[in-house]
Amino acid sequence: MKIPISARGMLERTGLVLVVLGLSSQANPAAFASGPEMAKNKQAAGKPKEPDTSKVLPNGIEVRHAGMLLEVLALRDDVLRVRLSSSGELPEDASWAVPAEVRHQRVEVTPDATADTVGFHTATLSVRIDRATLRLSTTDLEGNVLQEDADGWPAEFHSDAFRVYKKMPPDEHFFGLGDKVGPLDRRGQSFRLWNTDAFCFQESTDPIYKSIPFFMTMRAGRSMGFLLDNTWSTSFDFGKNERNTYSFGAEGGPIDYYVFYGPDPKQVVETYAWLTGLPPLPPLWSLGFQQSRFSYETETRVREIASRLRADRIPSDVLYLDIDFQKEHRPFTVDTERFPHFEQMLRDLKHEDFHVVAITDLHIARVPGAGYTPYDTGIAADSFVKNPDGSLYVGTVWPGPSVFPEFTQKKTRDWWGSLYKQFLAEGLAGFWNDMNEPSVFLTDNLTMPDNVQHRIEEPGFLSRTTKHLEIHNVYGMENSRATYEGLRKLDPDLRPFVLTRATYAGGQRYAATWTGDNTSSWDHLRLTTPMLLNLGLSGFGMSGADVGGFIGTPGPALLTRWTELATFQPIDRNHTNKGSGDKEVWVHGPEQEAIRRRYIEERYRLMPYLYTVVEELSRTGLPVIRPLFLEFPHATKDLQPMDIRAGNEFLFGPDLLVAPPPFPEQPEAYALKLPPGVWYDYWTGEKIQPPATPGGSGVTEPLIQPKLDVLPVYVREGSIIPVQPLVQSTDEKPQGPLTLRVYPGKDCHGSVYLDDGKTLAYTRGEFLRIDFRCAVTASGVELHVGERRGSYLPWWKAIHLELYDWQSPAAHVTLNHKPAELPDSVDPARHVLTLDLDDDPRGSDLEIVRAN
Ligand code: GLC
Repeated sequence: MKIPISARGMLERTGLVLVVLGLSSQANPAAFASGPEMAKNKQAAGKPKEPDTSKVLPNGIEVRHAGMLLEVLALRDDVLRVRLSSSGELPEDASWAVPAEVRHQRVEVTPDATADTVGFHTATLSVRIDRATLRLSTTDLEGNVLQEDADGWPAEFHSDAFRVYKKMPPDEHFFGLGDKVGPLDRRGQSFRLWNTDAFCFQESTDPIYKSIPFFMTMRAGRSMGFLLDNTWSTSFDFGKNERNTYSFGAEGGPIDYYVFYGPDPKQVVETYAWLTGLPPLPPLWSLGFQQSRFSYETETRVREIASRLRADRIPSDVLYLDIDFQKEHRPFTVDTERFPHFEQMLRDLKHEDFHVVAITDLHIARVPGAGYTPYDTGIAADSFVKNPDGSLYVGTVWPGPSVFPEFTQKKTRDWWGSLYKQFLAEGLAGFWNDMNEPSVFLTDNLTMPDNVQHRIEEPGFLSRTTKHLEIHNVYGMENSRATYEGLRKLDPDLRPFVLTRATYAGGQRYAATWTGDNTSSWDHLRLTTPMLLNLGLSGFGMSGADVGGFIGTPGPALLTRWTELATFQPIDRNHTNKGSGDKEVWVHGPEQEAIRRRYIEERYRLMPYLYTVVEELSRTGLPVIRPLFLEFPHATKDLQPMDIRAGNEFLFGPDLLVAPPPFPEQPEAYALKLPPGVWYDYWTGEKIQPPATPGGSGVTEPLIQPKLDVLPVYVREGSIIPVQPLVQSTDEKPQGPLTLRVYPGKDCHGSVYLDDGKTLAYTRGEFLRIDFRCAVTASGVELHVGERRGSYLPWWKAIHLELYDWQSPAAHVTLNHKPAELPDSVDPARHVLTLDLDDDPRGSDLEIVRAN
């Protein structure tokens, strides 16, 4: 059935879908009426039309109407799966994003029917389907509308393409879709998802590298999530084409989407992780400072960079080898002229506590008879994608003419994974899967032709061959999956580190990511924050953006500001393009280097906090950096997400609020927006009271005068932040006590998580977790250090307490309810009391009482 999707608009859509239902528009001129007229006509026509059949299932409903089939199933009380087909038959139930065991979860529902609707409710949601039109709406049990198909019909179809339209209330906001460029809130924008090598992307560039068809809404303090599980080219429009309507569609493939309810936005993020998987706990070293360039071209240069980082005492953990370490740019080779002692170099760098990540792009040089193992073994195993006529597809990338693995076959992924054997044995620590959109040079579409054939041979899928259009958006994810699973097989106890550029929903199970080829400009520094925040909401809590910008050469202030900001991002990697000037932290002289060093040092001091947050990410899906609305969904009087008016502020973990200027280069003062409650200045310890205005929003708005060497950071009241002595690499054992920075206030708590940072021993109980609590009493503060959980032993023997907002000159202390003489001191200017106590595996209870 062919129905043109012409210029969008309710009027046309209304007409179009009537054609789908077999009521031709000629036969029914009222079909071209606009929304309200349409409703009148419906009334005039008498009773709503009955669906052909509707079948209530134990876990949902199936409705057939005019040849269409709509199935709505409840996977959980708060998670629905919606499938709609214009042919009356549902397609194969298979997914690259949502595992079968999740898709097949079921919860019992209670059927509901009215004169106009059929549907059901769960313990959380109510689902109604309009009998006459199949329009779907979902409310909570109090009747608050959470999502609702637009007036007219649930979807429009054109050949293989479809589009679903939903009503968009004026106060609804949209987040997610991975790192699509632009403001944090997607409202008023439209996007296409088609993985694209977007070299030199700018604010208006779309599509870019990744396709993550997930978004979440925030309205009146309530949040919903949507995942359109469709791997074709998809598109999302949040009221750009049509006011008051948002929509999503695809050029092919199924209408198969999940709707899930918070109301808390954190719950939505966690449910998205439940659907598509959690990121694995990364190795600790990947949270250290990373230095890269396209390319450090010789062994000598790599050693020079490593020596300088250590000589200048820039704490650092990771060095990258970009494509020029390879022989003729062929993946899995080493240019032994430029790197004559490759293994020795890796050993020496390891000795200096560096971890080396090497690029291994997916394009395999087509060089028959040249003794190039990846090509020879790949050909022998029939591992490369083909043209429709059965010939090998060959495209040009870095190594010249290249062939491309069939990552949609398990056996090919296994073969790909085995290619890492030697590199792993030689001591490479991590791997970088770049160019995996896939990027192909000398083409007009930057990738392989639409009709290249991909074989799907995969547990849970029907074995079949399909065209590139269906596979394109999952190709990069399956590449990183092959790498991750291969590394797990080669060394089952080691945590892999894989960095991918292209990916799809669920790709967080295999790899961390970065935002691709950004530019050394103030604008790009500003764009970094919303890109990483939306990536974090979309599953990718482990992400970064090239520090300093990839294309071009940053000036001193830009690189300094960028280095400051990256301190508070999940991945902190300085990287640059071939031909750009050097941008290691020392390039602008000692004064700038000193500022940059200070921030990188702070990241290392905060490592216990950061690692604890990353461990939480691996258990819950909650990202490392978070928009304010995620932690404070009800912060404003009008319940609009705070972030919309809060410049570029974000949270680093649950407790630290980072507040760069809204425009990072601006010289003039700017007003911060601190969510309701008490905050502390992270750098000075100063306590910031919320405004006392009765009935006010409670949002504090201090005025900040930008200074190049200060990135404003604030701590939420009630935080207990674990901090360690400075080290030069995460491999170095910190010398001294664990510091607990205690910021008294409401719901005061914190925790620290630790393990060996490298292996999976933590899954066998070899971890350490300690929870902390504090309470403000009439006479002082009580602190509870919980008992150690897990069998991993801490590096510290003592705890150093920093208690903020301590207004008294001295303290009496009881330890485990007995008076104790603990070394303490008070900094009267900063209002900080410090105190040292021995670490006790059983935990400790401290009472600190003001002595006047
Ligand atoms: C791509 C990557 C970039 C890398 C370069 C060479 O442009 O995005 O990070 O340095 O290729 O491998």
